[in-house]
Amino acid sequence: MDTEQIVRTFVEYYEDRGHRRITGSTLLPPPGDPVLFTTSGMHPLIPYLEGRPHPLGRRLVNVQRCLRTTDLEEVGDPTHLTVFEMLGTWSLGDYEGTLSLDWGYGLLTEGFGVDPGLLHATVFGGDELTGPDTASLELWQERGVPVELTVEDNWWPSGSPGPCGPDSEIFLWTGDGPPESTPTRDERWVEVWNHVMMRHRRLPDGSLVPLAQRNVDTGLGLERLASLLQGRTSVFECDVFEPWRRLVPKLWPVDEPSLRLVCDHLRSAVVVIGDGVRPAVGGRGYVLRRLVRRVLTVLWRDDPSRGLGPSRGLGDLPDELIRHTLDRFRQETDPGEVRRVLLDEERRFGRLLERGRRVLARPRFQGTLDEEDFRHLHDTHGLPRDLVLSLRSGG
Ligand code: SER
Repeated sequence: MDTEQIVRTFVEYYEDRGHRRITGSTLLPPPGDPVLFTTSGMHPLIPYLEGRPHPLGRRLVNVQRCLRTTDLEEVGDPTHLTVFEMLGTWSLGDYEGTLSLDWGYGLLTEGFGVDPGLLHATVFGGDELTGPDTASLELWQERGVPVELTVEDNWWPSGSPGPCGPDSEIFLWTGDGPPESTPTRDERWVEVWNHVMMRHRRLPDGSLVPLAQRNVDTGLGLERLASLLQGRTSVFECDVFEPWRRLVPKLWPVDEPSLRLVCDHLRSAVVVIGDGVRPAVGGRGYVLRRLVRRVLTVLWRDDPSRGLGPSRGLGDLPDELIRHTLDRFRQETDPGEVRRVLLDEERRFGRLLERGRRVLARPRFQGTLDEEDFRHLHDTHGLPRDLVLSLRSGG
């Protein structure tokens, strides 16, 4: 099943159960929202989880593009991407969490053909503020799915003020042999679907009050699900990345971890630019700048012509990759404009590097660098640690 078929199967399954599809397009939250980017499918729905009636009713389904910088350091592992799409469903004060879990189980096993013997669930085990989620526990026991009880891992979102609740996560076994151990003890259990029983609001002092209605918010990462259903070992091998894996290694021969970073960050940068963001010294533009500069740092670090002026550059990025990404995210932006923004940022970064080489040639930076030096180089000269290290190793 390719990504398009997965989306269609998912949306139709929930439409058959009375859900209406909402469009989950831009990464930019509405004005006044304190976060820089939409980080989950539920994010744009917060007012409705709080009780405002939604114009399309109490049962919703969507595909929301999301960006998470909290996971930036994990990019390159088999399951994390910076920009990804999240399939989501909501019950706004309508059905309960057990029905949501039961439908989720039905869709995974019958709709997507996952072997029920490869599933594991986790359920909130209770803490000093809230009791254990026995309803979810019983549902999984009735379905014969093994359950692990946890506390911190089964509350979403953890800690921050706003709507929240206990969640039940569904994991899929990705090991070669038969399933063993449990999700918190063995990372071959990969989380595919989070069902949050969103019925509390956390206040700034950490206490909880009940929301006006009992909601359910579920989300599953599309690329992660696609890679699992396609029998791949990482998100970078699902169909969405096919053109990237075909074209990038020929263009820039780098090792696998670098290849993953380059593909993730460039694809994310294209989507962010497609949503109207431009590189800047702060806010969203800084996130974009960081993504592009991290790519360039990797490309130039191992550039065979290093020192003679970089031979690798974003000017070589095939149009196909820009177009493929804009199409996938249904963005109207002109691919030529995306390329212009990338090249402009590349030029700025190139100039910064030249300056970096000159600064690092000063006597102060000849010996071993300490934390204070790194801080100074970063804060005063805009030179990230990675870059300083690679410049000093002979660049
Ligand atoms: N909001 C939850 C999550 O992002 C479920 O959609 O995991």
